[in-house]
Amino acid sequence: MKILLATEKAFAPVAVTSMHEVIESAGYKLEMLENYKSNDELIAAVADADGLIVRSDLVTKEVLDAANRLKIVIRAGAGYDNIDLEACTARKIVAMNTPGQNSNAVAELVFAMMLYQIRGGFNGKSGTELRGKSIGIHAFGHVGRLVAEIAKGFSMYVYAYDPFLPEAEIRKYGIKVLKRAEEMYRICHFISLHLPYNNATKHTIGYDLVTKMPAPATIINTARKEIMDEAGLLKAFEERPDLVYLSDVEPDCKDIFAEKYKGRYLFTAKKMGAQTEEANINAGVAAARQIVDYFNNGNETFRVNK
Ligand code: 3PG
Repeated sequence: MKILLATEKAFAPVAVTSMHEVIESAGYKLEMLENYKSNDELIAAVADADGLIVRSDLVTKEVLDAANRLKIVIRAGAGYDNIDLEACTARKIVAMNTPGQNSNAVAELVFAMMLYQIRGGFNGKSGTELRGKSIGIHAFGHVGRLVAEIAKGFSMYVYAYDPFLPEAEIRKYGIKVLKRAEEMYRICHFISLHLPYNNATKHTIGYDLVTKMPAPATIINTARKEIMDEAGLLKAFEERPDLVYLSDVEPDCKDIFAEKYKGRYLFTAKKMGAQTEEANINAGVAAARQIVDYFNNGNETFRVNK
């Protein structure tokens, strides 16, 4: 039985060693396709794989069609918008994620980006502090909860909005809950986005919400670039010189930011949120264990397709 680890952005070596141990001690073979440059490489490597572990790698119909023996694909991470779930279901392939495993790394990056920005990129000039400022957490899942805990450590005023959670569940974290997104944007100088990317969230954060924020306003997006309505964001930037956008991956309109809004944005060239040894070990080993548990015991706990 062959399990393929296909990561266009490789895991830390220490994580890969642990994945080898889990998979090989169960009697399966782990093959690697790391830092690959083209879809053709993935298509060739997946041909004889029984199981597939990926990160943000695109698992399209084309990839699945090439994978004649594939029974399971695991997204070693949280967001599974990179996997064609319908196509998996149609081919009787189980799709899973590893929720929560890399969340701490993402939550820490939120603060790394905020601190870097408010200290002017360590340029020697006076900056500002987080203490006593308001932060709104848009969607209160694994990452959002950790952001709340860290924000409390910085003595920030913490708010959250999540239409899918009972208010009491959020209140347990000792923070304020808001019933409508607009209310939260109206209060908070910092907004941290943690929505999953799907048809319902696509391009939903734009002009109307962003311009409700009090000045100075900073949006931090460690979720997906696609949840942003970039045209609306640019319009807001044009009108509001106080606005700052920090994003883990470059938006499609990055050239406009470079040309017009120097000093008011920070973009990572590659998604860096989950790129720590700890997150790689957690998500990678969880994926390896889940795949072994599926093959050995039929455990489908983290299945995300029907
Ligand atoms: C996730 O959804 O788990 C994060 O966005 C991390 O993605 P990555 O594994 O591609 O870094």
